Amino acid sequence: MRLGVLTGGGDCPGLNAAIRAITRRTVDRGHQVVGILGSWRGLVEGETMPLDRRAVSGLLPRGGTILGMTRSDPFRTEGGVGAVLRHASELGLDGVVAIGGEGTLTIAHRLYAEHGLPVVGVPKTIDNDLAATDYTFGFDTAVHVCVEAIDRLHTTAESHNRVMVVEVMGRTTGWIALYAGIAGGADVVLVPEDDLPIEDACDALRRRHAHGKDFSIVVVAEGTRLTRRSGEQVLVTQGEDEYGFVRYGGVGARVAEEIERATGYETRVTVLGHVQRGGTPTSRDRVLATRFGLKAADLAHEGRWGRMAALRGDAVVDVALDEAIAEIKRVPASWLESARALA
Ligand code: F6P
Repeated sequence: MRLGVLTGGGDCPGLNAAIRAITRRTVDRGHQVVGILGSWRGLVEGETMPLDRRAVSGLLPRGGTILGMTRSDPFRTEGGVGAVLRHASELGLDGVVAIGGEGTLTIAHRLYAEHGLPVVGVPKTIDNDLAATDYTFGFDTAVHVCVEAIDRLHTTAESHNRVMVVEVMGRTTGWIALYAGIAGGADVVLVPEDDLPIEDACDALRRRHAHGKDFSIVVVAEGTRLTRRSGEQVLVTQGEDEYGFVRYGGVGARVAEEIERATGYETRVTVLGHVQRGGTPTSRDRVLATRFGLKAADLAHEGRWGRMAALRGDAVVDVALDEAIAEIKRVPASWLESARALA
């Protein structure tokens, strides 16, 4: 068997660990592995690199991806799908493992279901927003980075009696904000699933000050709409990227302005941005990425195409790709209640 491997979407810690696991398992069975460069664009343009034991040596602690990433979509490129199929055939690929989030896996599923390309999926994203898996790798590292930042902001907030607003990533879901908020002991957590009015957030900060705490930490997920009790909502974005994906960012500054104006407390904002995606993966993400990679290699070896590795409880299982992309996994109300219980 000759197996292609690609990484698509935004990078996250653990991608290299997954590439390493897929390659080693597959090569150990006497098969060949080809790295597809720059996500689906590598198949559209036929850009690849050989992957063997030596090529994946030392990858476990390395962030990013040795294969490069783009959000390219062959369905949005003229002649893209035809080029993918032609190159897959010319390269002699028996199948492709697509490591990605919702966008990459949706493309993988369409190529499989509509064009017969044999694919297996591996779920990754710091956002943890993929249905059909309890966790994606990359998420734990992102939360870890956020919690470390919140711990640091706590001490400076306390010294200066300030409100510190921390904007974290997550696109349309609040998983990173929620986990980082709980673990970092945030006083207010604002997430897209909640639409907590800014007036309620300010009231919570005033109550805290009334109890003698004159500093506070507010965590806001980038996709949160600035909401008022009147029902007015504003989604703060920075336009779109070259592939038409919404660029989030900026809600933290708006929240900070509103808090300072309404309460009079000095308020500062920190946007953690891509720091959340960079650097070495936590041990948990290395293990999850490795387990997903081994599962994907097994699925390909068994010819079980159209499936995706997933975590259910503590078990790595496989699910249908279309189940994984059917909907975005949002933070449920019970989790929001946990975040508020100790705030
Ligand atoms: O999906 C992962 C993610 O980091 C989101 O949390 C964020 O909105 C987006 O990617 C940022 O994308 P880019 O790196 O293209 O700016």
